[in-house]
Amino acid sequence: MTGFDLPKELLLGSATAATQIEGGDVNCNWYAWSLAGRVGEGESSIGGAGHWDRVEEDVALLSSLHQECYRMSIEWSRIEPEPGAWSREGLAHYRRELELLVAAGIKPHVSLHHFSCPQWLQESGGWLAPDAVERFLAFARRVVEEYADLVAEWTTINEPNVLANGSYMDGDFPPGAKGDLVGYFRASRALIEAHCRAYALIHELRDARGYPEPTRVGFAHHLAVFAPKNALAAPGTALSDFLFHRVFLAGFVEGRLLPPLGLGRPFGRPGANGFFCDFIGVNYYSRHLFTACARPPFAAPGVDPEATDRSDLGWEIYPRGLFQVCEAAWKRYALPIHITENGIADAADARRGRFIVEHLAQVRRLLDSGVKVERYFHWSLMDNLEWHEGYGPRFGLVEIDYATMERRPRPSARLYAEICATKHVPEYAG
Ligand code: FCB
Repeated sequence: MTGFDLPKELLLGSATAATQIEGGDVNCNWYAWSLAGRVGEGESSIGGAGHWDRVEEDVALLSSLHQECYRMSIEWSRIEPEPGAWSREGLAHYRRELELLVAAGIKPHVSLHHFSCPQWLQESGGWLAPDAVERFLAFARRVVEEYADLVAEWTTINEPNVLANGSYMDGDFPPGAKGDLVGYFRASRALIEAHCRAYALIHELRDARGYPEPTRVGFAHHLAVFAPKNALAAPGTALSDFLFHRVFLAGFVEGRLLPPLGLGRPFGRPGANGFFCDFIGVNYYSRHLFTACARPPFAAPGVDPEATDRSDLGWEIYPRGLFQVCEAAWKRYALPIHITENGIADAADARRGRFIVEHLAQVRRLLDSGVKVERYFHWSLMDNLEWHEGYGPRFGLVEIDYATMERRPRPSARLYAEICATKHVPEYAG
């Protein structure tokens, strides 16, 4: 592959999520989940990557890696540790972090919800609690009022499909229900309502203040390529694709409930563009090959013994899929695309450099075919807690030594830093 350039308007950066890197929070549902022995092999979110106490160091790290933008999340339980009680310390902490980013010239992108919630909400039913949506909107209001001057770009909810599936179908996420389709659909519906109403709320709160940078709100959708292994698997693949991808696009982008969630457009007023998103956030990792007996709505991620190129988690490396999912979303809605996550578990850092180059080549193809891709956030800035998988999988550009919390940029981080600084993607030499 020969080298190529990327336009300066496409901002390149990296992403993290609070629960996965911060450590030290005892009020979050993933801490309780850790105590219940459900994280890795008895691991705990309490350590994370020690980011809570290393914010200055990590912003300096982002700068040294020439990151133009940074996607992070705000931990709800840090802001509202008890129902209705706002933590001054939590609010001040994130203000400082965001100020550091802005001062360093790094554009922040904030996710309000990235899989975790306060344990008090989990105990009252999580996303199935009757007041879950109102609670989320109160939290969103508090956060946006607080940081509107610093943050223009917002993700309301990260990967609602993975969240609902993990919580109610696979049982890997709290509350650990398995095969509970009713729970899956009810949680999905609540997440759609929460997003659509938060979309309007964030605009209402921020637009009136007249900041120079326009408010942009979206969600981060986990989009995978779903492909049947043979003709017999085609109907099941199509059904899974509908339940796992399409239902969420219709809900989050159009404010529309599709069966089996419901019918109609019940969730208030869209934006001036007619949608409940100003961009579509795409989290892309892999292709999933379905056999005839795969059960909807989801199958094990991309684990195909025949695939030759796989990550440490067994996920197939399939760069062309990034083109396919982004192009399909663009054809459907013509909304700008922000690639909010894309990355690889690769402890040896043997494949990450090539992975980055090959996926950015797909971004180049997308731009060449007229698809408006505006952001690329690599997952992840640093090694972190991979949810129920624990600390084993290593997704970081930067290696974390968990014994000392030392940060060590991997060779791929140097390569990516050079790409961010020059907007030139070199021919990959291996
Ligand atoms: C996505 C999550 C992110 C991270 C990556 C590997 O599903 O959004 O937090 O765990 O997978």
